[in-house]
Amino acid sequence: MTRYVVTGGAGFIGSMVVRALLDRGDGKVAVIDNFLTGREENLAEVRDRIEIHRADIRCFDEIAPLVKGADVVFHLAAIPSVPRSISDPVPSHETNIDGTFHVFRACAEGGVRRVFYAASSSAYGDSETLPKVETMPPRPKSPYAVQKLVGEYYASVFTECFHLDTVAVRYFNVYGPRQDPSSPYSGVISLFMKSLIERRAPTIYGDGEQSRDFTYVEDVAALTLKAAFSGVSGKVYNGGNGNRYTLNEVWETLQRIEGVRIPPVYGPPRPGDVRHSQADTTAAVRDLGHQPQFTLEEGLRRTLAWYRNSAGVRHS
Ligand code: UD1
Repeated sequence: MTRYVVTGGAGFIGSMVVRALLDRGDGKVAVIDNFLTGREENLAEVRDRIEIHRADIRCFDEIAPLVKGADVVFHLAAIPSVPRSISDPVPSHETNIDGTFHVFRACAEGGVRRVFYAASSSAYGDSETLPKVETMPPRPKSPYAVQKLVGEYYASVFTECFHLDTVAVRYFNVYGPRQDPSSPYSGVISLFMKSLIERRAPTIYGDGEQSRDFTYVEDVAALTLKAAFSGVSGKVYNGGNGNRYTLNEVWETLQRIEGVRIPPVYGPPRPGDVRHSQADTTAAVRDLGHQPQFTLEEGLRRTLAWYRNSAGVRHS
C-alpha cells in the first residue's frame, strides 16, 4: 500500500495536507511532529485514520526509520516566523537547515520515491519587480528566509547528486482555520481574527501599506498535492494566488464582514519585513495545474467562522 509521510503534519498547513491525502483515499498517512508548534487537536477528527509519531527532525536517528521506504514524504516541519528567526536564531537554524538536511538524507538513504519541500516566498526579499517570478535571483532579508532557501537548494542538489526526486513550492503567506494566534510570532491574519472576535484593536507594524499574497490553506494543500503527484523534479514553484492586499485592506475587509469599526494601533516597522509580496503563478498553472479556489474575502469569511467556533478565542 502507498505510504505517505508528512513532517510537521500536526501543524496548521501540515494537518490540511494530511486531510487532503486522506481524501485521496489511496494510501496510509503517517505524521512526524515534535509538537513545538503543531497540536494534536489539529488532527482531532482524523486521529484514528493516521499514524502519529512524536519525533524531531533535528535528530536523524529519530526520523530515519519513520521515512524509510515511504512513497512520498511531504516535508513541512519548520520553525516559522521571520521575527522569531531574528530574536532566537539558533532553534530556527537547527530545525530549518539542519533538520531539513536530515529529512532529505533520511529520504535518500531510505529509498523514498519522492519528496515535496515547503519553501517560502520570503526567499524573494525586497526584489523590486512584482509579481515575483521563480527565475528572479533570491534576496533573503532574514535568517528565516535564508533557512528556507537553503532547503530549496538542498532539494535540487539531492535530486542532482543523490537521485532523490524532489519538488518545492514557495508558500505565500498562508492563512485559514487552525493557524495558532497565541504567539507574538503568529501569522498576521490569525492575530487579526483574534482581535476582531475580542473587539480589540490589532497592532499593525509600519504604515499598513505593505502587501502580501494571502493564500487560503485549502488552496495551498491542493497545490501541494498537485506538485507532489506531478512529474516535475528538482524544481521550485510559487504557491501564491497571484494577488496582493495591504494589511490596511485586510483589516478593512474584516471590519466590513463583521460590521464593526475598530481603528488599528500602528507600531514601528518590523525588522526583516518585506514590503510587498505577490506570486507570479504562470509556471504553477502551466506545469502543476494550479487553480486557487478561494478569493481573499471568501477565505477570510471561512477563517473567521472557524475561529468563532473554536476554543481559545474569547467570544464577545
Ligand atoms: C513570511 C513569509 C511567508 C512565510 C512566513 C512564515 C514573506 C513575504 N512571507 O511571512 O512566506 O510563510 O514568513 O512565518 O516573507 N504584522 C502586523 N501585525 C502583527 C503581525 C504582523 O502588522 O501583529 C505584519 C508584519 O510586519 C508583516 C505582515 O504583517 O508586514 C505579515 O506578517 P506575518 O504574518 O508574520 O508574515 P510574513 O513575515 O510576511
